[in-house]
Amino acid sequence: MTEYVPTRADRFSFGLWTVGWQGVDVFGTAVRPTMDPAHAVHKLADVGAYGVTFHDNDLYPFEATHPERDQAIRSFRKALEETGLVVPMATTNLFGHPIFKDGAFTANERTVRRFAIRKVMDNLDLAAELGARTYVCWGGREGAESGAAKDIGTALDRMKEAFDILCSYVRDQGYDIRFAIEPKPNEPRGDILLPTIGHALAFIQSLEHKEMVGLNPEVGHEEMAGVNFAHGIAQALWHGKLFHVDLNGQNGPRFDQDLRFGAGNLRGAFWTVDVLETGGYDGPRHFDFKPPRTEDEAGVWESAQGCIRNYLILREKVRVFRADPEVQAALAEAKLDELATPTLADGETYAALRRDAPDIEALADRGCGFEKLDQLALDYLLGVRRG
Ligand code: GCO
Ligand code: MN
Ligand code: MN
Repeated sequence: MTEYVPTRADRFSFGLWTVGWQGVDVFGTAVRPTMDPAHAVHKLADVGAYGVTFHDNDLYPFEATHPERDQAIRSFRKALEETGLVVPMATTNLFGHPIFKDGAFTANERTVRRFAIRKVMDNLDLAAELGARTYVCWGGREGAESGAAKDIGTALDRMKEAFDILCSYVRDQGYDIRFAIEPKPNEPRGDILLPTIGHALAFIQSLEHKEMVGLNPEVGHEEMAGVNFAHGIAQALWHGKLFHVDLNGQNGPRFDQDLRFGAGNLRGAFWTVDVLETGGYDGPRHFDFKPPRTEDEAGVWESAQGCIRNYLILREKVRVFRADPEVQAALAEAKLDELATPTLADGETYAALRRDAPDIEALADRGCGFEKLDQLALDYLLGVRRG
C-alpha cells in the first residue's frame, strides 16, 4: 500500500462516527470498544486524512455535564493541534436519543422541535470555533412508517422554518458557515423526508436564505433509491449546490451498507470520481462509511486506508482515461462537443428550426458510438489499459 500516498492537498476527511463505529446494529451488540476521539484524530492523521468531522455527541454524550463537555472538547482540540488536522464540517446528532423517535425539525411535538433547533445552535457555536465551513443536516428520523401519522406538507413547513431560523442564527452570529442537507430515502425511518438529491434541491428553493443551503449527497443513499449518484452530484454542481459529499460503497437498493469507498458499485465509483475531479467540485473528499462488524481495530484502519487508496486509484484512472487520445477521438465520435453547442444559434429564434429539413432516415440509422467509449473506460477500470 505504498504507491498511492495521500497528501493534505487531496483533502480527505472522515467522520469520527465512521472509524469509531462499534458495530451496534439492529441484530447485534458492539463488537469493538469505544474509540477515544483524540486517538481517532491521531490515527486519521497517520492514514493521510487532512480533516475530521463530528456530531456533537461523537465528542461527548447526550447527557454530559458542562465540565464533561468542556473536557471532551479540550482533548479533541489538543489532538487537532498535535496533528494539524482541520475540522471542515460538523453536524448534529438528531437521531440517537429517544426524544427524536418522531424526528427533530419535523416532530409532531413542538417542544421536541424547539429542543432540536437549540441543539443545532449549540453545536454551530462549536463548529464555528473549530473553523468548520459546512454544517451537515441529515434528517434520518424526519419521516414516518405509516400514512396518517405525518402530514407531509405541514412537516415541510416546519422543516423550512427550522432552516430559516438556523440561517438567521448563522447570519446574526457572523459565522462563515453554510448548511448541507443530506438526503436518504429510508432507514432509520420507514420513509424519510427529502429522500433524494432532487427532492432536497427543490426544497432548498423554498428557503429564505437559499444561497446558504446546499447538499451533502451520499453515494449509498442515492443508490438505495436506485438512482445514478454521478448524475445526481453532476446536477447538484449544475445548480451550484454541491457543498460537501459523503463517499462510501453500496450494492444496489437494500439496507444502507456504508461500505468503504470503492466497495459495492465500483463502476459507479469510477464515474463519481470523474465528476468530482472534472466537474468543478472543490470541497473535501469526505468518507462516511462503517468498517464492517467483522473487523477489529486494525481492520478499521485497513478499511479507512482502503477508502483513500481506492479514491486515489480511481482518480489516476479517470485522469489517464480523459487524457487518452483514443478516448478523445471516441468522445468526438460520440458527439460530446456537439451537445455543448446550443440548439439555437446566436440570434436565431424557434421559427428557424421549424424550417429545418433533417435527413430523418440517416439520423434514425446512425450509430452513436457509445459502446466503444464505454469499453475504453471499462478497460481502464479493469486495469488492462493504462494510458
Ligand atoms: C447514514 C448517514 C449518516 C450521516 C451522518 C451525518 O449513513 O445514514 O450517512 O452517517 O451522514 O450521521 O449526520
Ligand atoms: Mn449511509
Ligand atoms: Mn452520510
